[in-house]
Amino acid sequence: MKYIELDTYDKLSEVASELISYEIKNNPSLVLGLATGSSPVGIYQNLIKKYKNGEISFKNIKTFNLDEYLGLDSDNNQSYRYFMQKNLFDQIDINSENINFLNGVCIDADEECSRYDKLIDNIGIDVQVLGIGINGHIAFNEPSDSFAKTTHVVKLAEKTIQANSRFFNHISEVPTKALTMGIKQIFKSKKIILVANGKNKKDAIEKMLKGEITPNMPASILQLHSDCTVIYSKE
Ligand code: F6R
Repeated sequence: MKYIELDTYDKLSEVASELISYEIKNNPSLVLGLATGSSPVGIYQNLIKKYKNGEISFKNIKTFNLDEYLGLDSDNNQSYRYFMQKNLFDQIDINSENINFLNGVCIDADEECSRYDKLIDNIGIDVQVLGIGINGHIAFNEPSDSFAKTTHVVKLAEKTIQANSRFFNHISEVPTKALTMGIKQIFKSKKIILVANGKNKKDAIEKMLKGEITPNMPASILQLHSDCTVIYSKE
């Protein structure tokens, strides 16, 4: 794993967005895996700027988002689909047919997960953007006894519900289940860029980089990935 530590969140966002725009320039049909949450917002803002000043285009870019709350549809302003529209998709020239998302209001969650896995297997993700939870989760792969393999339904850990409640009016509104890409799909991405900021993430970052590879710290599996860059800022 490549590790880059920077002073500020702005710098982190700048470096990560540079890496992504470099890949887009090299391959205008790049398949991008995307994350929600607060960590990648600065990256998305920089990518929008780069699009607006003509540096990059998303016309032929395909995207796969990591996860979605179960029970929230795309119009719900707490859904991850809504988040992506507002923070990125509405402001770039991406073709809506090229946006792939897990459907939070699907009728059969298991079927929805296998639909997503098949799509990812057929298309393949070139660059996956990740955040990390304070408990070491990536996407919604929470600490557990085994590395969850494919896309699946997950019951969110109490720590995750608490951390995510900052986006809701009340903790009781946070969904308790989600659909998430599994470790297997994430790991198959050709390149991974994980971003994290804030002192509360330092412990997870250290365990991920140097600790034991264990499903109790899901991000630790990334030590085995051949092209993973971790960018951290204390701010
Ligand atoms: C979101 C996701 C989550 C977040 C993680 C960190 O799509 O996959 O794993 O990356 O919970 O969230 P923030 O960035 O809000 O601290």
